[in-house]
Amino acid sequence: MSQPTKFSKLQIVLHWGVLLLFLGSFFSHEAMKDSWRDLMRNGTTDGSIGTQVHVIVGIVILALAIWRLALRHTKPQPAEVGSGLQALLAKVVKIGLYVVMLVLPLSGMAAWFGGVRDAGEVHEVMFNLGLLLLGLHVAAALFHQFVLKDNLMARMKLR
Ligand code: HEM
Ligand code: HEM
Repeated sequence: MSQPTKFSKLQIVLHWGVLLLFLGSFFSHEAMKDSWRDLMRNGTTDGSIGTQVHVIVGIVILALAIWRLALRHTKPQPAEVGSGLQALLAKVVKIGLYVVMLVLPLSGMAAWFGGVRDAGEVHEVMFNLGLLLLGLHVAAALFHQFVLKDNLMARMKLR
């Protein structure tokens, strides 16, 4: 099988779909925090719409992350770009983003469905790590686009 020059349509849709879902999780996190506080203090919560959105969107992210990993490991992938330290950093950030896409929802589920208080702490730490990695990821994409001008973004564009 020949090596593609860009990601497949499905991978591209999943990549940008996860970005939209991340925004959904973020905008619903205040509602989730209120429900979590109720649950920890009173042992019960009404589970507002925002809370339900947070849970469902997060579980969909988990499913899509597993799908993305499966595609990555079963289909030919475009070549890694860069070399040396730059390639290593790109790899670490990508692996980190996949880890966040898995551990963030799993820790949320352990807290919410299992009542594990510490999992709530892990969830918060993973979210902050995710933000850091996402910042590096977007900065790298901008660097490729406007400084290196190598049109790396085209590999993640539908057309
Ligand atoms: C993967 C996408 C998700 C993102 C981006 C996300 C993001 C967040 C953020 C930013 C907070 C507030 C943390 C804080 O400042 O205290 C939070 C809290 C929480 N989330 Fe999520 N979450 C996701 C998935 C989930 C899922 C799938 C569940 C459960 C099924 C969940 C359950 C919780 C709970 C219980 C809290 C309160 C715990 C705490 O604040 O320490 N989350 N989430
Ligand atoms: C504005 C936001 C974003 C931009 C501009 C962006 C841009 C890109 C680009 C250009 C690539 C292709 C890199 C290459 O060809 O090697 C890529 C890959 C990737 N992106 Fe993003 N991205 C964004 C948001 C996200 C989000 C929210 C996540 C997940 C939390 C994410 C996770 C990944 C991963 C894991 C890869 C590697 C795919 C693979 O090799 O399997 N990205 N991104």
